[in-house]
Amino acid sequence: MTTIDTTLGERAPTAPPRKVREHLMELLEERLRAFFREEQERRSTAYSSASDLVSSVADLVGAGGKRVRPAFCISGYLAAGGDPDDHRVLRAAVALELLHAAALIHDDIMDAATRRRGVPTVHEKHSASHRSGGWRGEDRRYGEGVAVLAGDLALVYADQFMATAPAMVDALWAELRTELIVGQFVDVHVAAAAEFPVDPDLARWIALSKSGRYTIHRPLEVGAAIAGRPDLGNAFEAYGAAIGEAFQLRDDIMDAFGDGQVTGKPDGLDLTSHKMTLLLGAAMERDLEIRDLVHAGEMSAGSLRTRLRETGVRVDIERHIDRLVDDGCQAIAKVPLAAGWREELVEMARLVAYRDC
Ligand code: IPE
Ligand code: IPE
Ligand code: MG
Ligand code: MG
Ligand code: MG
Repeated sequence: MTTIDTTLGERAPTAPPRKVREHLMELLEERLRAFFREEQERRSTAYSSASDLVSSVADLVGAGGKRVRPAFCISGYLAAGGDPDDHRVLRAAVALELLHAAALIHDDIMDAATRRRGVPTVHEKHSASHRSGGWRGEDRRYGEGVAVLAGDLALVYADQFMATAPAMVDALWAELRTELIVGQFVDVHVAAAAEFPVDPDLARWIALSKSGRYTIHRPLEVGAAIAGRPDLGNAFEAYGAAIGEAFQLRDDIMDAFGDGQVTGKPDGLDLTSHKMTLLLGAAMERDLEIRDLVHAGEMSAGSLRTRLRETGVRVDIERHIDRLVDDGCQAIAKVPLAAGWREELVEMARLVAYRDC
């Protein structure tokens, strides 16, 4: 069978795709550092402690993270044939990482998580300052209050960076932020209202809305739009939905089986807080005992974790991830991309699906 070469060879960058992205990712780190340096100085002029709020966001961003969203945004742009010497895409990539910081800060309040990226979460850190200072009022309320503000601040910064993107990105950015927030609401609502049994379709919808779309699909789409290639929307959506599901399934697996020392965040939170995760949905589809435990309302985290570990369900779920990776890669197999980018996106799919942190 003859395959059609749909590669845009004539627009190939001189350096290999990964090198070009790595260079832009280094510039992204510099921009983040420069932005926070200026912003901290600016906010401390009236009241010295005012910059503590900025530092809360800066410290989280500076604590690392995999930078998945900027990487997909820059890759979407370059894969779409965007000029590697035109650095306007960097502002969008910075915006995506700052939006992610906002989402993480608020997520950790909602999930009562104590650690993120190997250090105390923002609310935890400020509650601890309240306690050690012997300040007035409740330490928890203070810590969470400050973290709400820090998350809002990160969101404002994200908007500020995205504001210079072409007008066609406006609707995309609105949708990306809205689906993330609504997804987060449904995630906590379903857990709190104990809407069980697990509905695999709902679990998938939650995973994509709260995570997969803003992590993979939308960043790619934003990058392609900035490169002037909205025609890649459908292919990037199919790739992003499959790889986004794999990304969140891996996150769920790390919560259930992972090592908090490696992930930098607490493990076991999803099961204790009754989250309707993709992992639980997939496990229920495959294992009768797990289904019975959940149906009977005996959602004891301990018994579920033991069963999840005992059964072969993990192997099944790994196979499901393999299929998602294949599906995602198939979705971009025939679309016209700049030279080398199809292979690079395949490699990135594997990296996010088989990561250990
Ligand atoms: C964690 O995202 C939150 C989810 C959407 C599951 P990442 O796994 O990308 O976290 P960092 O940015 O590397 O810390
Ligand atoms: C939250 O999903 C995703 C967002 C931050 C929007 P999780 O709650 O599963 O993320 P982790 O596991 O705390 O990183
Ligand atoms: Mg969480
Ligand atoms: Mg959460
Ligand atoms: Mg998680």
